[in-house]
Amino acid sequence: MPDPIAVWHAEHEYFGRLLKVLESQVAVFHGGEQPNYELMRDIVFYLRKFSDQVHHPREDAAFAILARREPASQLEINRLLQEHRVIAHAGEALLVLLEEIVGGAFVPRAQVESAASTYLVYYRNHIASEERQILPRAGELLGAQDWKAVADAAPLLHDPLFGGDPQERFRELRREISRESPRPQ
Ligand SMILES: [Fe+2]
Ligand SMILES: [Fe+2]
Repeated sequence: MPDPIAVWHAEHEYFGRLLKVLESQVAVFHGGEQPNYELMRDIVFYLRKFSDQVHHPREDAAFAILARREPASQLEINRLLQEHRVIAHAGEALLVLLEEIVGGAFVPRAQVESAASTYLVYYRNHIASEERQILPRAGELLGAQDWKAVADAAPLLHDPLFGGDPQERFRELRREISRESPRPQ
């Protein structure tokens, strides 16, 4: 079984790479140029699918175990649980805007830019908090049985973007990610 903390960390790295591509598109947008809206939409779509439906539910399960073993971590964990809900809402709102634009609707520039920037800042802070305060503690306090319960909380059969043979709609995004930042070692 692969080291669950290493897998957890690797997922954060993948999300970081997606956020970096999203950020570069927001910068294009900010510079008055036309960004690749389809690419932006696919990034947020993927994060809504994978992160909100697999990564976060698994974290929620890990957090619950951690809070039982270390009650002092409960406050921090409550904050992170709340952030999962905020990220899901902010992601959905941004996805709706991007879908509208891709579909040809007019959306005010400031509205898209602010939704995307808020999402970026919020997401990055969230990942940084988990990396700093949760992963090291979980590595110490969770055992093999716990990790099985965490994985079972949200089964994933195939990652449509980062797994082998990415889905058709994610091929361009996958190429873009390789260009932006080579695969982490
Ligand atoms: Fe999280
Ligand atoms: Fe996370």
